[in-house]
Amino acid sequence: MIINSWTTRPETAEDVEVIRDVNLAAFPAPHEADLIEALRADPQAWLPGLSWLAESPGGDLAGYALLTRCHVGDSPALALGPCAVRPEYQRRGAGSAAIQAALHAAREQGENLVVVLGHAEYYPRFGFTPASGFGIHPSFDVEDKYMMALALVPERPLPSGVIRYAAAFGV
Ligand SMILES: CC(C)(COP(=O)(O)OP(=O)(O)OC[C@H]1O[C@@H](n2cnc3c(N)ncnc32)[C@H](O)[C@@H]1OP(=O)(O)O)[C@@H](O)C(=O)NCCC(=O)NCCS
Repeated sequence: MIINSWTTRPETAEDVEVIRDVNLAAFPAPHEADLIEALRADPQAWLPGLSWLAESPGGDLAGYALLTRCHVGDSPALALGPCAVRPEYQRRGAGSAAIQAALHAAREQGENLVVVLGHAEYYPRFGFTPASGFGIHPSFDVEDKYMMALALVPERPLPSGVIRYAAAFGV
């Protein structure tokens, strides 16, 4: 899928190292790069086809977005993150392209509810709103606006309750 000149595609086995590299470049510590590898090793968390890359016209891996299995109460949902863009490509749409492509793929796979913990000024552009509005809450203390949720198919009923992240998140 091409979104604003970024080519998006799901990861393949050859992308594992470059995904680590993008996350090491985007974040100040290796936590997110290590988290992705722990999630990839957990068959209960990792869902094929929901780890997405945005490539520049020259073929550089610029942006990355990941959706993994979590639960809200006992119902399956998806957690968005880590999302990462190489510093030299930030604020040029690569992050948005990777996130939109990952969300589109999730909808195609029959998923509905997505939660994200992150920048309150960034994720609303994809339709995320505070999770508390759906009766969805994290198991830890965080300011309300940072914990957001999105229904990919708004007509479908949503579960409410506490978010249970995959074990690799350590929360
Ligand atoms: C956050 C991130 C994934 C966004 O991707 P991106 O490609 O840089 O952003 P896009 O080009 O898609 O979107 C640009 C918009 O995002 C906003 N934005 C970018 N980074 C932001 C941040 N840290 N906080 C709030 N808004 C941010 C910009 O202000 C811009 O807004 P505008 O369209 O109103 O001008 C990327 O900047 C990144 O990797 N940052 C460092 C790691 C990080 O913080 N990851 C997310 C953890 S929640």
